[in-house]
Amino acid sequence: MLGKKHKTLGEFIIENQSSFQYSSGELSRLINAIRLAAKVVNHEVNKAGLIDILGAAGDTNIQGEDQQKLDVLANDIFIQTLKNREIVCGIASEEEDDFISINSNDEKHQNKYVVLIDPLDGSSNIDVNVSVGTIFSIYRRITPAGTPVQLEDFLQPGNKQVAAGYIVYGTSTMLVYTTGDGVNGFTLNPALGTFYLSHPDMKFPDNGKIYSVNEGNYVHFLQGVKDYIKYCQEEKEDRPYTSRYIGSLVSDFHRNMIKGGIYMYPKSSVSESGKLRLLYECNPMAFIAEQANGKAIGGRTRILDIVPTELHQRVPFFVGSKNMVDKLQEFLDKYK
Ligand code: AHG
Ligand code: MN
Ligand code: MN
Repeated sequence: MLGKKHKTLGEFIIENQSSFQYSSGELSRLINAIRLAAKVVNHEVNKAGLIDILGAAGDTNIQGEDQQKLDVLANDIFIQTLKNREIVCGIASEEEDDFISINSNDEKHQNKYVVLIDPLDGSSNIDVNVSVGTIFSIYRRITPAGTPVQLEDFLQPGNKQVAAGYIVYGTSTMLVYTTGDGVNGFTLNPALGTFYLSHPDMKFPDNGKIYSVNEGNYVHFLQGVKDYIKYCQEEKEDRPYTSRYIGSLVSDFHRNMIKGGIYMYPKSSVSESGKLRLLYECNPMAFIAEQANGKAIGGRTRILDIVPTELHQRVPFFVGSKNMVDKLQEFLDKYK
């Protein structure tokens, strides 16, 4: 049982505040606001099954609409929570065409952080009661505080992230995040509405036996990826590996970090850049992975070194246990 011996997220945030490089309490307040939004979204996501059961009574279209609503709802909850607390100067979201500026042209407001979010990741899983998530990424703005926030504040390479994390609404709800000093996981006790530090200092094992990829797209993959998948399936001392694909990046990543594994969303002959978004999905997960002894590449490059050119940019994404990512890289390099 989660009880006294587990620190709460609130306690953890206060204890660690002084270790931030430019600590003013602003980042702590921001993480606190995300914690609050996560609880509200969790409450909505938990009810979704119930709504689906009622909705499924006749019309399948309504289920589709409900799901879409939940995407929008999660988006609204995160944006409103951050807006109301006047805690950031800008937000970019997978669900919004453009970035949102918050009092950023008001000299009184000296907020220096921008947040980028995927409010509901894996949302096609909602319908079938399978885990979904939220992903967030935090940067310090590069334009001066008190002036309107600009696109360039959001288009920073992932290596400039100040913090990143995800919430997985699974069999239990967890908030996992890093501020650049390791990765810690907190489990929500739903009866108390409190997150407890249940997974301190999370690490990817160096090796793993799980590979996660949508193999339905196999025929479209580049030869290097195809060869690596065949390598995973070969009969050797420690192979074949196990294939696990939930279709929700957050959940697939979370499992692989705990058990050891690799997640792949390659580019293919039909989608030149892959599917996942650099700013809302790949960068935050790559930051977490590197902070947890893992590795994340977008082909030949380290994800965190890519300089973004647009908000909704997509990139191929390979993330997981170091040795597995290195092995994949070997296969990719054969076809340079
Ligand atoms: P989102 O629900 O935010 O659009 O993200 C879905 C993403 C990711 O979570 C998942 O791993 C991937 O899309 C699944 O894509 P496929 O269905 O193409 O495998
Ligand atoms: Mn997503
Ligand atoms: Mn999404």
